[in-house]
Amino acid sequence: MPSQPLHSAPKHGSTSPQVIVHADSQAASACVAREISDLIRERARQGQMAVLGLATGSTPLQLYHELIRLHRQEGLSFSNVITFNLDEYCGLFAEHPQSYRHFMQENLFRHIAIPAEQTFVPDGTLAADALPAYCERWETHIASTGGIDLQVLGIGRTGHIGFNEPGSAIDSTTRMIQLDPLTRLDARAHFPDEQSVPLYAVTMGIKTILQARKIRLLAWGEAKAHIVAKALTEAISPALPASFLRQHRNTAFHLDKAAAAYIPEALCQP
Ligand code: GLP
Repeated sequence: MPSQPLHSAPKHGSTSPQVIVHADSQAASACVAREISDLIRERARQGQMAVLGLATGSTPLQLYHELIRLHRQEGLSFSNVITFNLDEYCGLFAEHPQSYRHFMQENLFRHIAIPAEQTFVPDGTLAADALPAYCERWETHIASTGGIDLQVLGIGRTGHIGFNEPGSAIDSTTRMIQLDPLTRLDARAHFPDEQSVPLYAVTMGIKTILQARKIRLLAWGEAKAHIVAKALTEAISPALPASFLRQHRNTAFHLDKAAAAYIPEALCQP
């Protein structure tokens, strides 16, 4: 069972975002995994699909471990689940060890018996002139499933969600984007050298993300503390894409204590 969060409170009397500070990232991940499994089971009882928006990076790894555990030990079936990933690096084939498709196969999909045709990760290998039509089809595809029920997010140190770097508009949809130098620096450790770090990515837009019925942002560790606090307190603006989450009706920030270090008490107190 997940432990009780340390604090959980709506911000300034509004309903969103909730800021939930957990004892640690494991407890936070277990809490979100439980919410996801409840959603999947409820939809299965109704004979319906659950549509998940998924993220990559180190942050959701414990969440994915917990979903795998729920599948193996508690019989959670993913047969009624459709997944859409937020983003993909441009230029990397699905089999590339650093592609997000590869990440998802290795860290989640191949362990949970989800039908391959129900998992979608943007294609990063299309020619630039084919991308606009592809991105439009991606949006239509999400809509045709009934829309994303629950979107999992991490946050980049630039304040990006997905790969919506600073400058991303609130009405942005799925598109190609140039990666911020700080994002490329953070990605550097996963690639053999600096030149191998992609310059561009395909990402769902801010509007695509905000259309999800529920959004659950996860952040751990002191490296995320400043950007998390800024996202919750600074002006809502394209300069700080994660700040747009404050305009969504059902968003929760699930944090460990280190990532919550600079958030004003008032946002976390019951
Ligand atoms: C990448 C992903 C984001 C993710 C971010 C943070 O940029 N595109 O979706 O939130 O990394 O990564 P990490 O979780 O490793 O800190």
